Amino acid sequence: MQNKKIIIEKFGPAKDLVIKSHEDTRVVGADEVRVETAYSGINFADIVMRQGLYQDAPPKPFVPGYEISGVVTEIGKNVTTLTVGQHVLAGTRFGGYASQHVLPAWQVLALPEGLSLAEAAAIPVTFITSYLALHEFARIRKGDKILLETATGGVGVMAMQMAKEVGCEVWGLTTSAHKKEFIESYGAKALLKSEFENNDQYRDFDFILNSSGGKSLSIQYDRLNKAGKLTCIGVQGAISGGKRNIFSLLKTVVQSPRFPILKLTMESKMVSGFNALKFFDDDPWMQRILPKLNDPGVKPFIGKIFRAEDVAHAHDFLESRKAKGKVLLSWKD
Ligand SMILES: NC(=O)c1ccc[n+]([C@@H]2O[C@H](COP(=O)([O-])OP(=O)(O)OC[C@H]3O[C@@H](n4cnc5c(N)ncnc54)[C@H](OP(=O)(O)O)[C@@H]3O)[C@@H](O)[C@H]2O)c1
Repeated sequence: MQNKKIIIEKFGPAKDLVIKSHEDTRVVGADEVRVETAYSGINFADIVMRQGLYQDAPPKPFVPGYEISGVVTEIGKNVTTLTVGQHVLAGTRFGGYASQHVLPAWQVLALPEGLSLAEAAAIPVTFITSYLALHEFARIRKGDKILLETATGGVGVMAMQMAKEVGCEVWGLTTSAHKKEFIESYGAKALLKSEFENNDQYRDFDFILNSSGGKSLSIQYDRLNKAGKLTCIGVQGAISGGKRNIFSLLKTVVQSPRFPILKLTMESKMVSGFNALKFFDDDPWMQRILPKLNDPGVKPFIGKIFRAEDVAHAHDFLESRKAKGKVLLSWKD
């Protein structure tokens, strides 16, 4: 059976991604399953690692990708939770951009009711990240005023819905004026990032989810309510254009503020950050988060699906801010 993979062999622009095919001779172990991929989710982190700016990425060459959906084609002798032919989704710690997977059965879940295979591939990262941000770090409550950066992206769309479910007042930022309507369609208030930053009447937020790092952290910290929480999950500010830009990364690092404990004490605010990958293979955490997948009320928005062969166009599409919601790769011919 052929396994097609998309590989980062060298850091650089999207056109440097390499596609290779080889005979897959892996034997499915007793506690494993083989999955034929239907879709792979693309995340902003894939762009960051392709540019060589992602600290936790494996050494080159490697296959990026954190999530897939597909069909189970073989199960190990100890596996009782899944059956051949079942539609599933799976989190992958890298390696997701491939047409075949052999995965431990615990990483693979039956599709929640009402989700298509495409929607399922858009779930693992957006759901786990949004859940951690809103329910574990922020502990949001009805009436909270919250601000989400990159509200139009995969995580943003999921987080807007989760926060609305709880009854929060949700504000979303975008850098693209034409996407404001998209944010408003989720019942949130939309602002350009520059409108927010240049007008300090936008303040008193109980929670802000930051995804760009750098000086945006200082501005957002100042706009928190008392007991307000700021959580940082990304460094999008460091990414400019399709090319690796170390200067831009350094600028973002240098402009990221320090938050001494005495300052936080005097100003009665909280600052945190997290990496969802750290929770991914932690069984008690996953047992706590994954059952919530079956709660109604959240659905990913699929902005565009590219053929796997067109992965370079898919990355360019995301990097040039054309995307809304989630961008996927399809492995069907
Ligand atoms: N720490 C974690 O565990 C974790 C997990 C998941 C995601 N994240 C982070 O959360 C953020 C959102 O991730 P995502 O996968 O949901 O995003 P995404 O779907 O890839 O979002 C793409 C959108 O980001 C906006 N954007 C802002 N700055 C950009 C830039 N420099 N280059 C290109 N686009 C830019 C654009 O939206 P507008 O046109 O609307 O501005 C673009 O359409 C990222 O920073 C990501 O690294 C962190």
